[in-house]
Amino acid sequence: MAGRIPQTFIDELLARVDIVEVIDRYVPLKKAGSNYKACCPFHNEKTPSFNVSQPKQFYHCFGCGVSGTAISFLMDFDHMHFVDAVEYLADSVGLEVPRDAIAKVTPSQQGLYDALTESAGFFHAQLKTHSPAVEYLKNRNISGETALEFLLGFAPDQWHALAQATNSSETSLVTTGMLIRNDTGKTHDRFRNRIMFPIRDRRGRVIGFGGRVMDNAEPKYLNSPETPLFQKGRELYGLYELRKHKRNRADRIIVVEGYMDVIALAQHDIHNAVATLGTATSPEQVSLLFRETDEIVFCFDGDTAGSKAAWRALNSALPSLKSGRDARFLFLPAGEDPDSLVNRHGKAHFDQLVTQEAQEASQFMFSTLLDEAKKGSSESGTGHKARLAESAKALIEQIPAGVYRDLVSQQLNDIVGLEVLKAQAPTPVAAPDNGNKPVVRQTPVRRALLAILSSPSVILDIDPEEYNFSEKLPGAALLMQVVAVVENHPEISHSGILEHFREKPEGQSLIKLAAATMEERSDANVDDPLSVVRHAIEWLNKETLALDNSVSNKPPSAMTDAEKQALLQRINALNK
Ligand code: UTP
Ligand code: MN
Repeated sequence: MAGRIPQTFIDELLARVDIVEVIDRYVPLKKAGSNYKACCPFHNEKTPSFNVSQPKQFYHCFGCGVSGTAISFLMDFDHMHFVDAVEYLADSVGLEVPRDAIAKVTPSQQGLYDALTESAGFFHAQLKTHSPAVEYLKNRNISGETALEFLLGFAPDQWHALAQATNSSETSLVTTGMLIRNDTGKTHDRFRNRIMFPIRDRRGRVIGFGGRVMDNAEPKYLNSPETPLFQKGRELYGLYELRKHKRNRADRIIVVEGYMDVIALAQHDIHNAVATLGTATSPEQVSLLFRETDEIVFCFDGDTAGSKAAWRALNSALPSLKSGRDARFLFLPAGEDPDSLVNRHGKAHFDQLVTQEAQEASQFMFSTLLDEAKKGSSESGTGHKARLAESAKALIEQIPAGVYRDLVSQQLNDIVGLEVLKAQAPTPVAAPDNGNKPVVRQTPVRRALLAILSSPSVILDIDPEEYNFSEKLPGAALLMQVVAVVENHPEISHSGILEHFREKPEGQSLIKLAAATMEERSDANVDDPLSVVRHAIEWLNKETLALDNSVSNKPPSAMTDAEKQALLQRINALNK
C-alpha cells in the first residue's frame, strides 16, 4: 500500500474512538454485564452471542467466531477498505488522517490532478468576466456564494483557451478529457461556451466536469469522459460539499438527478443532496452513501424515466439494506424537479415532501411489482399474486440475511397470503465447547500475552535485563514483538496492539487470544498482570537453559537413542 498510515496515528485514533458507538450505529447494542451484546450481524441467530467490550475496544461473537477492533468491524461489516475505515473513524472524532499517508499520488497522477485544478481555477476566473454567464446563474437564482461553494465557472467560446491558460502539458489535458485530440493529432478544448460544474471526489480534488449550454443547444450537458481519475459509477456530485458542510454523519442524504438540483437545494439551505452523474445509481454509490448516513431518499421525476431510474436505484440499494438503514423513494409531481420545486415552493415544502411523501423501499418494490403483475392480464387475483411472489422472491434474496430481510419476507407473505419466504431459520449457535469458541489452551506465554493486552503498561515495570530466553521457544518471539510495541508506545490500548499486528501472520493468534477474554467467567481475564508476565519470563528463561543443555551442545547425530527420545518429548511438550 502506497503511503502507509503511521501506526502512531492508528494508536491515537483507537484511543479516541468508542467501538460501542461505532458498532451501535449499525447494530443496536444492549448492555449485558460488563459487555454490550447483540444478535450477531455476521450470522443469523435468535439469541445474542455477539459481544462488544468497551474497556478492550474489541468485539467477538461466540456463535460464529468473528472478532476484531472498530477498524475490523467497518472492514468486515461495511466492506470498507482499511484506509476508508480509518478515514471514517478519524472523521467521526474530528481527527485528520496524515495527508501524505492517504494513498500516495504518483507524479504522473499528480499531473492529471493539477491539470483539472488549473482548469477549474481558469473557468471560475472566466465566470467573473463574462456577464452573460453571470446573468444566466442569476436568472437561475444562484448566489455568488453558492457559485463559489460549488466552484462554478465558465468555459469561454474558444478552441484553444485551456492550453494557453494553464501550465499543464497537452498530454495531461488530453488524458483528463479537457482537450480532444482529433485524427490529425491536433487538439482543441472539449468545453466551449458552457457553464462549468467541477466534479470533486470525496477529498475535494477536481476529477471531472459537467458543462451546460446557456440556451437550448444540444447536448444540454457535456460531461468529462471516464478517465483514470474519473469513474462515474463511483462518484457522486455534491458529496464533497455535503461532507464539508456536515462534519458528522448526515441524518439523511437525498439523491437527485441533476447538478442543478444539488445546487438549487444548497441555495435553499438544503445541504444534504447529491446527484448521480447522468448514470443509473450503482450499488457502489449506495454503499458509499450508507457510510455517510443511515437514510437515503431517492428523489426522482414522476415520469416514466423517473420510475425507471428509481427501479434501478432500488436494485442497487437492496444489497446494502439492513435494519437500521432506510432507503426511501420520493416521486415529484409531473414536470417538476427538485430545482424547480424548491424555487417555486421553498425549503419547508421540499422538506415536508421528503419526510412525509417518500415511500419505504419495500412499499415501492411491492407496488411496482403488483402493477407489473397486473399489466395486460385478465387473470384472477391469484394469478397476479403468484407472479408477484416469484419476482419479489428474487429481489428479496438480494437483501443480506437478517432482521430486515425477514421483515420484508413477512410483508410478502402477508400480501400474497401464503408463506412464500420463510424468515430464515437461525444458524445453530455453537454449543459451549464447540470449535468456534475461542478455546485457547493456557500456557505461561499465552497468559502473559493476555495480561499485556489487558494492561499494556505492565511491561514498563519489567527490566529488560529480565528477558533471558531464546526466541525459538513457542510464543517467545511474539511476546517480544508485543513487548517492543508497548515499549515504543507506552500509552497504547488493547485494540491498538491488535492493530499493530493487522498485516502480520501473528495477528490472528493475538486476535484469538483476545477473543478468549471476552467470556465473562473466562479464566483468561487476568487479576495480577505483572506477576503473570514475570512468571512467563521466568518459565521461558528456565526452558531456554534446559533447551541449551539438551539441544545446542550436541548435534542430533551424536545423541543416544534415549537422548533423542528425551529431546523429542521436550520439543513436543513445548509445542503444546
Ligand atoms: P436534466 O435534464 O434533468 O438536468 O438531467 P437538470 O439538472 O434538470 O438541468 P437543468 O435544470 O435543465 O439545467 C439530469 C442530469 O442528467 C445528465 C446531467 O448529469 C444532468 O444533471 N445529463 C442531462 C447529461 O449528462 N446530458 C444531457 O444532455 C442532459
Ligand atoms: Mn432542472
